[in-house]
Amino acid sequence: MTEFTYFTACTIDGFIADTDNSLQWLFDVPVVENDSAIPDFIDGIGVLVMGATTYTWMLEHEQLLEHPDKWRDWYRDRPAWVFTHRELPSIPGVDIRFVSGEVADHFDALREAAGTRKVWLLGGGELVGAFDDAGALDEICLGMVPVALGGGAQVLPRRITSERLTLVDVQQVGQRVDLRYKVARAVS
Ligand SMILES: NC(=O)c1ccc[n+]([C@@H]2O[C@H](COP(=O)([O-])OP(=O)(O)OC[C@H]3O[C@@H](n4cnc5c(N)ncnc54)[C@H](OP(=O)(O)O)[C@@H]3O)[C@@H](O)[C@H]2O)c1
Repeated sequence: MTEFTYFTACTIDGFIADTDNSLQWLFDVPVVENDSAIPDFIDGIGVLVMGATTYTWMLEHEQLLEHPDKWRDWYRDRPAWVFTHRELPSIPGVDIRFVSGEVADHFDALREAAGTRKVWLLGGGELVGAFDDAGALDEICLGMVPVALGGGAQVLPRRITSERLTLVDVQQVGQRVDLRYKVARAVS
């Protein structure tokens, strides 16, 4: 069965971006040489899913319209589903599907695109919450860095209590703690 995994960096007070949608606080954390957490995770995914803010942030921050080769270096030929109500530019040569509406309407296509690999839910938190509401959140992987922001974009603006979450792995990578939780389906 295809797994839906939320994999993101976050602060100790539960934010994935600050109030200006900046991630500079994340880039300021000292990196560890040969940290393979992200490439190892990407090896196991078949498709990426994100909201419009995350996509436009990537376009602008990484200048992906001018340098589409960066995307291919990171993700190879994996397709991405971008949820939006707008007409956004596509990255040249990259399989980007702009979609909208109920997330569940896209599950069959996402499962087919992922094959035997995972669906990576990049965020934002509300979009991931919509996947959980529809019964499609199997795993949460948080790279928690020693930063508190006091406000911004929440990791996951939902009430999900401990009977649904099982901590299955913890790794320290320099100043970051990587936490992996299995998520049980909500009992309706
Ligand atoms: N720390 C990290 O590793 C990390 C990871 C991911 C994201 N981030 C950051 O976190 C922030 C998240 O931003 P965000 O909270 O605004 O979330 P987002 O999910 O990236 O974008 C939300 C937008 O997506 C569109 N959307 C969402 N659901 C939709 C649906 N069902 N149908 C159609 N459109 C839909 C809407 O945009 P429109 O109506 O305008 O089209 C909505 O305003 C960004 O700054 C991002 O860069 C950080």
